[in-house]
Amino acid sequence: MDSYIIEGGQSLRGSIGVSGAKNAALPILTVALMTGETCSFGNIPALRDIQTQIKILNTLGVETTWKGKTITARVKDTYNSTAPYELVKQMRAGVCVLGPLLAARGEAVVSLPGGCNLGERPIDLHLRGLEALGAIITINGGDITAKVPKGGLKGAEIYLGGKAGSSVLATDNVMCAAVLAKGTTVIECAACEPETVDLANCLISMGAKIEGHGSPRIVIHGVKKLKAANWSIIPDRIETATFLMAGAVTRSPITVTGTRPDHLLAVLDTMRRMGVGVERKGTSLTVVPCERAKACEVTTLPHPAFPTDVQSPIMALMALAEGTSILTERIYPDRFMAAAELRRMGATISVANGQAVIQGVPKLSGAPVMASDLRAGAALVIAGLAAVGTTKVSRVYHIDRGYERFEERLGKLGAKITRISEAAEEGLTAGAAG
Ligand code: EPU
Repeated sequence: MDSYIIEGGQSLRGSIGVSGAKNAALPILTVALMTGETCSFGNIPALRDIQTQIKILNTLGVETTWKGKTITARVKDTYNSTAPYELVKQMRAGVCVLGPLLAARGEAVVSLPGGCNLGERPIDLHLRGLEALGAIITINGGDITAKVPKGGLKGAEIYLGGKAGSSVLATDNVMCAAVLAKGTTVIECAACEPETVDLANCLISMGAKIEGHGSPRIVIHGVKKLKAANWSIIPDRIETATFLMAGAVTRSPITVTGTRPDHLLAVLDTMRRMGVGVERKGTSLTVVPCERAKACEVTTLPHPAFPTDVQSPIMALMALAEGTSILTERIYPDRFMAAAELRRMGATISVANGQAVIQGVPKLSGAPVMASDLRAGAALVIAGLAAVGTTKVSRVYHIDRGYERFEERLGKLGAKITRISEAAEEGLTAGAAG
């Protein structure tokens, strides 16, 4: 298992290009299941989660090639419609194949994803939505089996809201299935996230008839078949926000290029309220740092409100801000894994009932800490960049799931961050003992 060693206190400078959005690419790749033609997907980030999705697609008979930022995919055979546990357990986004498989092959077996380190993550909305289209769903031996009834899937009016509001991947699954259903489907309380909009636009480019994507009411008129996708993925808004936080904590005027500022309005507004300016010029965002950020109150909610995936990264900024910040998590109330590790670096954070209270301190000090999920890992790296002394972030494989060559790109901005492998670590220990 690799770790990062970060020498804190360096100023960053220069600009950094943002990668394609992981959470748009993961569902979009699955549309290859819905056509017999060869699809091409551009601006794909080189991430572990993408590799896992490719493995799932390969198991389902999709032949893929990955060259640079482009993946081409074509259904070669349709013998196997089962997405196995070994792969789905590695990444919940494996469940994205459910709607496309069901619509294209009339049957789908997908291992039921369990809980994960963000807490309970049910999939009742996915199943409820597909059932409303007529799918016959059974759960047996840890697998979801979904079958199309005689006469095929039929358009329906579906309310897709759960206890935390809309669901991104449930909207994606139901939208994909509805595209090839007979008649019209209306999804109410649909996810408005830019990643769902990207999927809808990709499906439209393949011949789907979708209206209202980006709003809570999506209307889909079923079509008989889809043609090839030739689609370029949107820039990653969460990665953009993560780099902006790195600039803010290190008080560095870095620029993030090739992004979509309109996908980040809540994050930009929060940063401004904290006293950190962000200059917007076309597709670039430049941090206008301040001496010390001010505390702020933030609540995570579905888009266009503040995204849960930026909750941990902004916690690192709040840990160093002046005053007491309150961070309320409404999507995953247990998603506060960064807090305990940030405390090891000198942060003052208490967590109860889905809320973190963060009393800003003037400085953090480097410490050995552990990444326990993707975004918590990013938060620890951000904190390490600002801390006094050396921070060792272990379990970097979590970060590799969602940030492409993170250390190399931060290094180009002037961060002192190196990756060490377990073998190298053992060498270091042996050296020290000697
Ligand atoms: N929910 C239900 N029932 C369902 C599905 C979801 O109650 O059937 C609840 C969840 O428990 C949660 C809320 O609805 O409280 C929203 O979850 P959502 O379904 O929108 O999450 P997701 O689609 O499984 C995607 C991203 C996550 C991101 C969330 C929220 C992908 C691959 N994953 O997950 O990304 O946090 O939307 O924006 O798109 C990450 O990248 O670090 C990450 C976790």
